Amino acid sequence: MAPTEEFEPRILGFLCNWCSYAGADLAGVSRFQYPTNVRIIRVMCSGRVDPTLVFEGFINGMDGVMVLGCHPGDCHYLTGNYYAERRMKSVKSILEYIGVEPDRLLLDWVSAAEGERYAAMVKGFTEKIRGLGPLDKEKPVEELMQKLIAAREAFAQHRTRWLVGKEKEMVEEGNVFGDKVSQEEFDKVMIGSLRKEYVTNRILLSVKDDALSAREIANRLGVPSKDVVRSLINLERDGSVAVAEVSDSSPKYRRI
Ligand code: FES
Repeated sequence: MAPTEEFEPRILGFLCNWCSYAGADLAGVSRFQYPTNVRIIRVMCSGRVDPTLVFEGFINGMDGVMVLGCHPGDCHYLTGNYYAERRMKSVKSILEYIGVEPDRLLLDWVSAAEGERYAAMVKGFTEKIRGLGPLDKEKPVEELMQKLIAAREAFAQHRTRWLVGKEKEMVEEGNVFGDKVSQEEFDKVMIGSLRKEYVTNRILLSVKDDALSAREIANRLGVPSKDVVRSLINLERDGSVAVAEVSDSSPKYRRI
């Protein structure tokens, strides 16, 4: 039997209090029919949905995550949905990088008066996830979990949070001299930084229980050896890993 015939997607929905949650409420009151696959968490604004929460959802067994907020220009806190859009764009980019379909994350807008739109959105997204199949369909689950945990940790890093918080200012407003960074330049720095943090965190997870050489880590993660060596030097310097043994003239590292 095809997996899509039996599979019931598990979907996590973050709905902003002022628009989307009220839209969902209206859908219920209006008795619009829609699938019951979404588990809702009410947040005050879509801008309050930290990227780490999206990964937390996937780590805890969700097949898809929806983030719904007020339409652009209607955010109760003016710019929350703007930040949500930027953050979810970065999340999608990292999902793709780690081999998870970016379409498993949906960011969209529903007003308090759009009960019908909410019902249609839930229906469409549920069908999309049903078509994609379970999150862990083709991969060893342990490896997928390590990837998701490393991605979550990448978004939790101070440097990532600083960049996310500064994007609007750097791209749209400029510094005190009015100098701006183009969106392309910012995206390049942001994605480069996220990928570097992701690799670092995957290394930390890999050497948690096993002592491994740089080459073994590179092979296991499918990352160039030079990137692994660079990260190991930094991790050893800040005291996160140490040489546990030397085998065939190669140091093997373990997490401290
Ligand atoms: S209050 Fe709804 S997106 Fe900000």
